Amino acid sequence: MNSLSNLLAPRARPSLPLPLPLRAAAPATSSARAAAPAPRRWRQRARLPSPVSAVAAEAPSAASLIDGEEKEKEEGQFDWLDQWYPLAPVCDLDPGAPHGKTVLGLRVVAWYDRAVDEWRVFDDACPHRLAPLSEGRIDDKGHLQCVYHGWCFDGRGACQFIPQAPALGPPVHKNSKACVASYPSVVQNNILWFYPRADEEHRDVLQRKRPPFIPEIDDPSFVTVYGVRDLPYGYDVLVENLMDPAHVPYAHKGLMGKFCKKEDLAQLSSTSKAVGR
Ligand code: FES
Repeated sequence: MNSLSNLLAPRARPSLPLPLPLRAAAPATSSARAAAPAPRRWRQRARLPSPVSAVAAEAPSAASLIDGEEKEKEEGQFDWLDQWYPLAPVCDLDPGAPHGKTVLGLRVVAWYDRAVDEWRVFDDACPHRLAPLSEGRIDDKGHLQCVYHGWCFDGRGACQFIPQAPALGPPVHKNSKACVASYPSVVQNNILWFYPRADEEHRDVLQRKRPPFIPEIDDPSFVTVYGVRDLPYGYDVLVENLMDPAHVPYAHKGLMGKFCKKEDLAQLSSTSKAVGR
């Protein structure tokens, strides 16, 4: 299968054309460099004003999340483009540099907008010549600067500076074609999430729908470990594999430590207590 809609069948009914062909072997999230470029139809231009981007102020109730899931089940639909997707744990992101990511075949760049103390998620394609903005830099003013000709963009995706434009000429940087598509984004559970629609009508999506919230991650009495790996196959294969522990002693023979019987664990525990460990 080489299309996302096939991979997600039978219930997937995306309301927008999906960014395909998506290599079936591609990971859900990988470096932008390793991924195929997204078709132009996915490059929805940002429409000013600014995108939604905020640190989650309050968690949604479990009941509201369950209600939403139940509603989707009842309707028999799952809109893959009407979901929040995790980009990366914030602790893995350097606020001084742009970060290219690929989610569901969509290439995006995450960067830190120090003007408002928020992370932004843009299309990873400069509106000028489509150079990847993830190869650029954060300039002195805190704007995202394209590495190719130096166009600079603010946190809304608006172009603020075109170095080659005559100083006394028309303000070409204000042309709407000079904007980058900017996606709603939010930090929740110390994870940067984004919503894969940049249209104006989805700008306030956070008020309608939030990313899945896991209270234990924010609970200091729990230990949380973040890990991100790029794997050269689809998420569905991975999930199936993770739900199949019977393969572990064989497929990972010698790699997963020694397995103990329950009695051994109990004995180990009592021995540890006896020696005060
Ligand atoms: S391609 Fe980005 S400024 Fe030219």
